[in-house]
Amino acid sequence: MTDFARTRALFALPEGVIYLDGNSLGPLPKAAVQAVNRTMIEEWGSELIRAWNSRGWAGKPRELGDRIGRLIGAPAGTVVVGDTLSIKVFQALAAAVRMRPDRRVILSDSGNFPTDLYMAQGLAQLLDRGHALRIPAPEDVEGAIDESVAVVMLTEVDYRTGRLHDMPRLIARAHAAGALVVWDLAHSAGAIPVDVTAGKTDFAVGCTYKYLNGGPGAPAFIYIAPEHADVAEPALAGWFGHAAPFAFETGYRPAAGIERMRVGTPPLLAYAALEAALDAWEGVDMADVRARSIALSERFIAEVEARCPGLMLASPRDPAQRGSQVSFRFEHGYAAMQALIARGVIGDFRAPDIMRFGFTPLYLTEAEVVRAAEILGGVIGDRLWDDAAYRVAAAVT
Ligand SMILES: Cc1ncc(COP(=O)(O)O)c(C=O)c1O
Repeated sequence: MTDFARTRALFALPEGVIYLDGNSLGPLPKAAVQAVNRTMIEEWGSELIRAWNSRGWAGKPRELGDRIGRLIGAPAGTVVVGDTLSIKVFQALAAAVRMRPDRRVILSDSGNFPTDLYMAQGLAQLLDRGHALRIPAPEDVEGAIDESVAVVMLTEVDYRTGRLHDMPRLIARAHAAGALVVWDLAHSAGAIPVDVTAGKTDFAVGCTYKYLNGGPGAPAFIYIAPEHADVAEPALAGWFGHAAPFAFETGYRPAAGIERMRVGTPPLLAYAALEAALDAWEGVDMADVRARSIALSERFIAEVEARCPGLMLASPRDPAQRGSQVSFRFEHGYAAMQALIARGVIGDFRAPDIMRFGFTPLYLTEAEVVRAAEILGGVIGDRLWDDAAYRVAAAVT
């Protein structure tokens, strides 16, 4: 059994705050502070450029990739860490599209995160060979898979509602039609059990600043199934993805396997924070995380619905159909979220009317979930949100 009291003690959570936004930005792991300090002082400060070899900096993208791989069912040597998720989406999609040269359709869904859709639009424009992005409603994706589709590119957990796609079913449909799949696991990695190997995923990408707690702007990851890794052509032919980066050849030759998805110099200070954050997952069983996430979110829904009849559940009611977040629709959702945050309960808001709450068993307790619902009950019941100060829109919601 996972010891969640142990994992909670690993995080620096501010006094008086109930944090229900770890699905957007995970909190600070205490060990990350020492890890970044140590990397600065003992590695960068003392070793200078020698640290690339003496402290293993050059191997970090692969080493951390293997550690993330263990959380998503990926074998060693199939995941690398680097860049941001937008870049990794582009790389995976570009490689997959090139593996289906006779097809012109990229199929996603209208609920996908905008950057994924923008990357597909940009790629289609760049290729200039008549590729089209199709975005049916999430529930219509399966029916839209046909033999014109080159790649099905989806995010497993909907960022607004938490709705889960049936990944194995959609992969089977896509493969039966001869298409490849790219899965965005931004809201899956560290949130729910994922097995890219058993699921026969072709490409998967994700970020590390949400449930993996790697810090703001922490590097992303990319997985390629072993059978594709030496075939996938890198669209971003960076020198760190070259077969021999320090030969400084004028022509590009891709590295073997997943290493070809590396692009440029890895941001080592961010890697140090991520490495420390990943230590928190030692001894954690994802089945325990899932069970506790469901218990916490079910309790939250029951407590909120008992207190706030004006809030409409926007997430699937069946926990098996949800990721690790719960969303409610409320006409004055933005102001209500600001009022809630002012009272120490941090969630977030997604336009046009979604109040979003993340459930992160590594550091969240049932008592906090109940208390958060009580405070939300006060904000809604007593119209505490109805204050001009809470209607001023911030740049980041
Ligand atoms: C599903 C999904 N994809 C991509 C991104 C953003 O990617 P990036 O790390 O490049 O900002 C997010 C951000 O929340 C996301 O939820």
